[in-house]
Amino acid sequence: MHNGIIENHEVLREKLEARGYVFASQTDTEVIAHLVDLHYEGDLFDAVKRAALELKGAYAIAVFCRDEPHRVVGARLGSPLVLGVGDGETFLASDAMALAGVTERIVYLDEGDVADLQLGRHWIEHRIDGSDRYQRVEREVRRVPAWTGAAELGPYRHYMQKEIFEQPRAIADTLEGVEGITPDLFGDRAHRVFGEVDSVLILACGTSYYAGMTAKLWLEAIARIPTQVEIASEYRYRESVPNPKTLVVTISQSGETADTLAALKHARSLGMERTLTICNVATSAMVRECMLAYVTRAGVEIGVASTKAFTTQLAALFLLALALAQVRGRLTDADEEKYLKAMRHLPVALQAALALEPQIIAWAQAFAGKQHALFLGRGLHYPIALEGALKLKEISYIHAEAYPAGELKHGPLALVDAEMPVVAIAPNDALLEKLKSNLQEVRARGGELYVVADIDSRLQAAEGLHVIRLPEHAGMLSPIVHVVPLQLLAYHAAVIRGTDVDKPRNLAKSVTVE
Ligand code: M6R
Repeated sequence: MHNGIIENHEVLREKLEARGYVFASQTDTEVIAHLVDLHYEGDLFDAVKRAALELKGAYAIAVFCRDEPHRVVGARLGSPLVLGVGDGETFLASDAMALAGVTERIVYLDEGDVADLQLGRHWIEHRIDGSDRYQRVEREVRRVPAWTGAAELGPYRHYMQKEIFEQPRAIADTLEGVEGITPDLFGDRAHRVFGEVDSVLILACGTSYYAGMTAKLWLEAIARIPTQVEIASEYRYRESVPNPKTLVVTISQSGETADTLAALKHARSLGMERTLTICNVATSAMVRECMLAYVTRAGVEIGVASTKAFTTQLAALFLLALALAQVRGRLTDADEEKYLKAMRHLPVALQAALALEPQIIAWAQAFAGKQHALFLGRGLHYPIALEGALKLKEISYIHAEAYPAGELKHGPLALVDAEMPVVAIAPNDALLEKLKSNLQEVRARGGELYVVADIDSRLQAAEGLHVIRLPEHAGMLSPIVHVVPLQLLAYHAAVIRGTDVDKPRNLAKSVTVE
């Protein structure tokens, strides 16, 4: 098994073919298997050590040999690999979370480590820098709590459903101990660091990137601090204009996403040393690499589609906006109290959103037969529309796009007809009336509208207009609540279509390769 990319696989392939090896695929992984075989003289550990000397790139591998069934050999360079120590058993995995429910005793392998696993014992050797030799090393066995019960499905059909329903608890845990707003929530040095920065640069991928997009709107509106959000895989390769007084914020559920880690390193190489991460794994590379951190308490997220990690990231990012606002003298005591009260109310608001599940199932029946869907939102809810579209395509394989509703008339309106369901997020905020005119444009073209509204949104269901109402408006925190019906919609559409909800095709939970 192999995670990562072998950069010199073509050279190695030529060498192996010249030695008579026949390849069954074009993959770089197969090159590793043959290379280990080439070096094999009856000892798998020795063979992997010798093969590793020839591999260039980033990889984590686990190698089995038919002739030594009692043994697994792992090696890592550039990609994460952990060893799990159980009772008379030993495991290899790409991160500790993969071992949740199996063992809490984890060894983090270092770059250049090769590990020999046999029943109930392990042995690690480390390649001596710049040489072809290895030396025996002892690595600390750390206890990584796996939030007992995380791997149990309980009454749920899938982990994703369970994780959607865990959100009230996850948010409550993430906010536990937050008595008041203070930079100290982010680490000992946060007070000084927050006082030194004049802007924020957010780096993330996928769902975490959408959390970043939402955070930008909070940071600029509440803390009045200029904020830029960048897709990590793009940022690392473009010529940007670095500002040493920027606070670099990475957002990552796993804390092991290769693109985000590389973007962080890139930002640091450009002289931006003040770094903070919002992350769900306290022991992850991201937390270890960043100066400051807020560790969310979503608990282990097993479904590939991120749900509770997203809403807890949003909660942490809202705290960040408040803490920066405070340091910048823009948070009155009254505002602090008002926002904290609203945050503490989130678990209740989320329960109310979850109670809408039966109505969402009815919507999902209609969606399951469609090929495409359009999601619309404005302001704070545009990133939520993006997240709703990502969830739907990721697990149900229905093609979905999201737009800020005002952009409809600039192109996507041409797609709208009776076959295109259009989901709109319509909370009772300052943009509601504008959004209603956008929705009118959809109806006029025969589009079928599915609107997630608030109690006060003044939208009545009608022919071609389906409305679900959240019982209250959560103000600035509304994105955290409004995303829940969209998660449920994606989940139920996928269940009806019979896809592998927790492990959608072609996707991995932690994207530890570029
Ligand atoms: O672990 P991370 O938050 O860094 O992961 C980033 C993305 O790979 C992740 O959010 C992905 O988009 C999810 N599968 C979306 O549900």
